[in-house]
Amino acid sequence: MTIIVTGGAGYIGAHVVRALADAGKDVVVVDDLSTSSAGRVRAHPLHRLDLAASDATNRLAAVLDQHRATGIIHLAAKKQVGESVARPEWYFRQNVGGLGTVLEAARAVGCDRLVFSSSAAVYGEPVGGVVTEDTPVAPINPYGQTKAVGEWMVRDAARAWGLRQVSLRYFNVAGAGHHDLGDPAVLNLMTLVLDRLEAREAPVVFGDDYPTPDGTCVRDYVHVADLADAHVAALNDLERDDRRYDTFDVATGRGVSVAEMLAAIAAVTGNAIEPRVVARRLGDPAVLVATAQRLRTELGWEPRHGLDDIVGSAWQAWVSQRESGVEPIRAAV
Ligand SMILES: NC(=O)c1ccc[n+]([C@@H]2O[C@H](COP(=O)([O-])OP(=O)(O)OC[C@H]3O[C@@H](n4cnc5c(N)ncnc54)[C@H](O)[C@@H]3O)[C@@H](O)[C@H]2O)c1
Repeated sequence: MTIIVTGGAGYIGAHVVRALADAGKDVVVVDDLSTSSAGRVRAHPLHRLDLAASDATNRLAAVLDQHRATGIIHLAAKKQVGESVARPEWYFRQNVGGLGTVLEAARAVGCDRLVFSSSAAVYGEPVGGVVTEDTPVAPINPYGQTKAVGEWMVRDAARAWGLRQVSLRYFNVAGAGHHDLGDPAVLNLMTLVLDRLEAREAPVVFGDDYPTPDGTCVRDYVHVADLADAHVAALNDLERDDRRYDTFDVATGRGVSVAEMLAAIAAVTGNAIEPRVVARRLGDPAVLVATAQRLRTELGWEPRHGLDDIVGSAWQAWVSQRESGVEPIRAAV
């Protein structure tokens, strides 16, 4: 049973690859290494392939055929919201075009199991801030829109040719399951704060006047190793004929504010953090948290890691990346 992991060399993908291998599956990675490096997946075959390129369908079909792939976990995508606003057409080519390649190739060779990486970005700015999978999908930027379209595409493929598919909507992913698999991207709160601390500068907080208990935004942080486990559970669940749902939020159900996160990072790193508070950012909802019940009830998934694990493992991996010379990936715009 060989599973193809697209984007398998990336931050989340490399964790998924290890979780699948731990679960006894053969894993093959497909990645163009545009935001990652081959060193993260040394133990597995890697096909370097840009899924958005014009000749990608035939090349991917050949890979699926060669390894007799039984399933695909499709994580490969671009994920920077600001860049997606600046270059929407490129984001659609990358994320929607890349998924089109995967679906065409899968159909051509009869590979009919697919787990799709979606995002909480599909919810946009939901009223009340606490969502379930039934909350209307209303993305507010091109990145979120590419994920919403992706969910429609995989669902339509299920109707058209029987693809067994599931979309996992990740909330705020952080932490590291292994020291060598930290998040190299300085794009989210955790790594942005660690980066500023390293530069001996004050981390920036966007707004402290939100209608939340301490005035800062509240988010739902999930440990990347727990997220990786959710992929194994979701993939296995595709074998069931009586599945009721094809969409799952991957979150803990627990909201953590920016101020709470800063306090946790201060405790773990031993730094006193005095943030610089600036104006709110456009499109940042005050609260974005999931009830995260469906994944528990249907797939028996439970997060094994709390906030301390998330922060502690992120810090260790950050230090380890610095020691091994991994360059941080910064926002393109
Ligand atoms: N990190 C998060 O908090 C988060 C939250 C929600 C959803 N997601 C989604 O999870 C997935 C993985 O994200 P990540 O955080 O690991 O990002 P990442 O940038 O570390 O990983 C993406 C991987 O895909 C590869 N890739 C990108 N474009 C490609 C292309 N055209 N062809 C082949 N490979 C390509 C990159 O080289 C990289 O290895 C993405 O789909 C992202 O949208 C991430």
